[in-house]
Amino acid sequence: MRIAVGVTGASGAIYGYTLIKTLHDLGVEVHAVYTDMGRKVLAYECEYSLEDIAKYAVVHDNADLFAPLASGSFKMNGMVVVPCSMHTLGALATASGRDLLTRAADVTLKEGRKLVVVARETPMTSIHLENMLKLSQAGAVIMPAAPGFYHKPKSVEDMVAFMAGKILDMLDIEHMLFKRWGN
Ligand SMILES: Cc1cc2nc3c(=O)[nH]c(=O)nc-3n(C[C@H](O)[C@H](O)[C@H](O)COP(=O)(O)O)c2cc1C
Repeated sequence: MRIAVGVTGASGAIYGYTLIKTLHDLGVEVHAVYTDMGRKVLAYECEYSLEDIAKYAVVHDNADLFAPLASGSFKMNGMVVVPCSMHTLGALATASGRDLLTRAADVTLKEGRKLVVVARETPMTSIHLENMLKLSQAGAVIMPAAPGFYHKPKSVEDMVAFMAGKILDMLDIEHMLFKRWGN
C-alpha cells in the first residue's frame, strides 16, 4: 500500500508526524510533502526536522513538480493533508496545483482516489466553510482536527492517536490506536 501525506503550516504538526510514523510502522509506503511553513511549524511545535521524517517516509521537495506524486500514472492508494491550513485548503478548492502538495492532492481527486483533508483553524469564516464544501462535493473527506473525548484521553498523545486512528479508518487501514465504541 502507498499513501501520500501532505503537511502544511497549520498548527498540529504532531498529527502529521504521528500519522506518517504509524503508517510506516504498519508497513505502508509513505510519501511525505511538507510546505515551507509545514517544515517550520514542525520544528517549532515538535522540534523535529525533515531528516526525522525521512526515517519513516520518502520526503519530496514541495517545489518538485517532476516528482512521481505529480502524475496520476504513479499509483497511490490515497492522500492525507494533515494538518491542512486555510491557505492550502483554498488552493485545493481551486485546484491550483502550483506546488507538489496541491498538485498531488488534485491528482488524487481526479483519479478518484481517497483524499482526506484534516483542516485546522478556529473560528472559521464562510470562505473556509465554502472551500470545505467545494472539496467535499468533489469527493474529498473533510475531517477537521477535532479529537473526541468519549474514549477518555489521558494525554495529548491519546488525543493525537484518536485523530490518526480516524484518518486510518478513512483509508480502510486496520489499527489499534483507540478503543472502539461498543467493543
Ligand atoms: C505557529 C503557527 C501556527 C499556525 N496555525 C495555523 C492554523 O492552525 N491554521 C491555519 O490555517 N494557519 C495557521 N498558521 C498560518 C499558516 O502557516 C500560513 O497561513 C501559511 O501561509 C500556510 O502556508 P501553507 O499552507 O503553504 O503551509 C500558523 C502559523 C504559525 C507560525
